[in-house]
Amino acid sequence: MTRFEGKTALVTGAAGGIGQAIVAGLRAEGCRVAVTDRSCAGLKAEVRFEGDMLDASFCDNLPVRVAETFGRLDILFNNAGVIPRGDITTQTDADFDMAYGVNVKAPFQLCRAAIPIMAAQGGGAIVNTASCWGLRPGPNHPIYVSSKAAIASLTQCLGRDHAHQGIRVNAVCPNEVDTPMLRSGFEARGIDPDTAIEDLNASVPLGHIASPEEIADVALFLASDAARYMCGALVEVNGGKPVI
Ligand SMILES: NC(=O)c1ccc[n+]([C@@H]2O[C@H](COP(=O)([O-])OP(=O)(O)OC[C@H]3O[C@@H](n4cnc5c(N)ncnc54)[C@H](O)[C@@H]3O)[C@@H](O)[C@H]2O)c1
Repeated sequence: MTRFEGKTALVTGAAGGIGQAIVAGLRAEGCRVAVTDRSCAGLKAEVRFEGDMLDASFCDNLPVRVAETFGRLDILFNNAGVIPRGDITTQTDADFDMAYGVNVKAPFQLCRAAIPIMAAQGGGAIVNTASCWGLRPGPNHPIYVSSKAAIASLTQCLGRDHAHQGIRVNAVCPNEVDTPMLRSGFEARGIDPDTAIEDLNASVPLGHIASPEEIADVALFLASDAARYMCGALVEVNGGKPVI
């Protein structure tokens, strides 16, 4: 018996580095998975819902569509994210709206829609992808950092408010992960990502920045029955590297 046999899940940001690893891990353990991203081309999943996390009606309706497709919704992974870069003097209102829209408002809308479905079923699990930077600020990313602090706080609020319904809400908080989000930041600054990641690896006590699978493994643990007594936890996954 695998951990997710008979379960169903919705994963946002499923085309990204961590999202793909979460989806692959769930499906390898028997979960039926609905994926969503702006493009789901080539993604292996039981059902794909292409859409924009900035589209309020898309987010409001998605959990019901998944529950109608599978007959239930057991697990929600709020994993989609965006990272505007630069200190506050370089940031636009559009940067703010996009980051708070994807990183905070979409998870708020998806949780609001998913929780009544899970409550009616007798329980469920929600795992948010926050960040170490949401717990202690990294430099020169004030919009991203504060949006991740907001999703961390929302995780704690919902973990407390909905435990009595058998719904566990927790967050995984990675430090640096080798995904397109990290690599594109180096590319935008004209830095070779492979060289930059080698330098970053040297800054991590465990010897390397995280692979997407090393984050997904903890996200899957939080979604599993092994984490059945965890509600509102913010789990740092950082290879021993604090935010400095
Ligand atoms: N990579 C890191 O170093 C790191 C560290 C800490 C936290 N995180 C968090 O992990 C999560 C996953 O990021 P990743 O590293 O896999 O990055 P990624 O860029 O590979 O994946 C992010 C996904 O979110 C999707 N997305 C973004 N905006 C969207 C929108 N408006 N509508 C629909 N989908 C949208 C993207 O299309 C992409 O597939 C994010 O929440 C990110 O903030 C990443």
